[in-house]
Amino acid sequence: MYRRLIVPGALAASLMLAIPASADGYSPGAPGIGDPYYPAYGNGGYDVSHYDLRLKYQPKTDLLEGTATILATTTQDLSRFDLDFGLKVSEVRVNGIRASFATSGDEELEITPAAGLPKGTPITIVVRYSGKPSDVKLFGFTSWARTPDGAVAANEPESAAWWFPSNDHPRDKATYDVSVAVPDGTQAISNGVLTSTTSQLGWTRYNWRSDKPQATYLATLAIGRFDITTGTTANGLPVVNAYSKDLDPATKDAARASVERTSEAVEFLEGVFGPYPFNAVGGYVPNVSAGFALETQTRPFYSPKFFTKGSNVSVIVHELAHQWYGDNVSVHNWADIWLNEGFASYAEWLWSEKEGEGTAQELADYVYAQHPADDPFWTVAPGDPGAAHQFDDAVYDRGAMALQALRNAVGDDDFFAILKGWQKEHAYGNAQVGDFVKYAERVSGKPLADLFDTWLYQPSRPASPAAEALGF
Ligand code: ARG
Ligand code: ZN
Repeated sequence: MYRRLIVPGALAASLMLAIPASADGYSPGAPGIGDPYYPAYGNGGYDVSHYDLRLKYQPKTDLLEGTATILATTTQDLSRFDLDFGLKVSEVRVNGIRASFATSGDEELEITPAAGLPKGTPITIVVRYSGKPSDVKLFGFTSWARTPDGAVAANEPESAAWWFPSNDHPRDKATYDVSVAVPDGTQAISNGVLTSTTSQLGWTRYNWRSDKPQATYLATLAIGRFDITTGTTANGLPVVNAYSKDLDPATKDAARASVERTSEAVEFLEGVFGPYPFNAVGGYVPNVSAGFALETQTRPFYSPKFFTKGSNVSVIVHELAHQWYGDNVSVHNWADIWLNEGFASYAEWLWSEKEGEGTAQELADYVYAQHPADDPFWTVAPGDPGAAHQFDDAVYDRGAMALQALRNAVGDDDFFAILKGWQKEHAYGNAQVGDFVKYAERVSGKPLADLFDTWLYQPSRPASPAAEALGF
């Protein structure tokens, strides 16, 4: 914990000398990264650059076991630090030497290395672990969904702690090598490129590499029996799509008629947001009953629920739009969720506009009209919805209306320059809603604080997003 002292200035320096964090000046990393919605998520004291996960999974028993090797750099003189994790740990090493460890709270793994770690040092953390993730309840639930032939790890914001130890917050992005052995005949799907597969002793090992910074909740793992399609985009990116063999045939056809349009959607989105930021693309549809899809990096997760009534290209466009808005440029705090959902939702409207199924303006007006002024929909502020409302409709739909209002205020040229330029400005990084407001003002040369205050922060229905309502 940080010590907070409120003392008269003259005394402060001597008091701080009198009570150092520890005798040698080394102190524990904070147990949270500092997210106002989720104070315990992520950790302080170090910055991860790479996760190397070498795992083995037995679908019959749900036993997941393996080793995580984490490359990080200390950001303070560190006596102790936390990882976020829920499975049982048998050994931890820091820089090759056994470290002591203990668990506290829902997912804090407290690691005390044999000696203090000076600020700015590259460190290697090795964690050996095993467990049955579907039995592990963190925050009262598990994000690990078992299927008859495997399992899926995909959820937001909490997903990583059921399958690998991490600094579990989007503010600390890293690259990944994910190697998973599964019984022969079963496949393991993860992010990025499949670099190789090997088979021995009845186990097949799948080696995946995601070589651009990736937030922990965007790492995914799906194990099961899949029909896999592969290809290449116009720009030469490898495409891998996977469909559970257990989907009913009509759902699987509808899923394929949607997910197989991934390359086409990426091409469209590149025109709107700029070059695709990653080394691979695709999507997967496992045999789960989740009610959501997720923008897992390079390879979104789609619940079969999206395809039970027929094809759904909107959800494909939405999750692929997140590859820019969410994955390339990620939230700094979870309060910044509008930077993800507002833009992915607006991308669906742009796709509709291109397909001749209604312009973004028409859709904004339509959705606006569906919510009368007394609808509680308008009480959720997309710019700071609160943890309990992070994924409310307002974040998506009012969030997209906010972008239509912006488009009307600055005109198409500046609007699309903003959408593209923002991606360059914050590539592979993190940003906050306030940064976007300033960026839009800078590019357009117009004062926009009132517009964004009205659309993102007021707990009431703004005047309609129609062009004329804004006085242009
Ligand atoms: N980011 C996801 C989307 O594309 C939403 C995930 C919501 N999470 C959940 N557990 N329901 O909209
Ligand atoms: Zn979304």
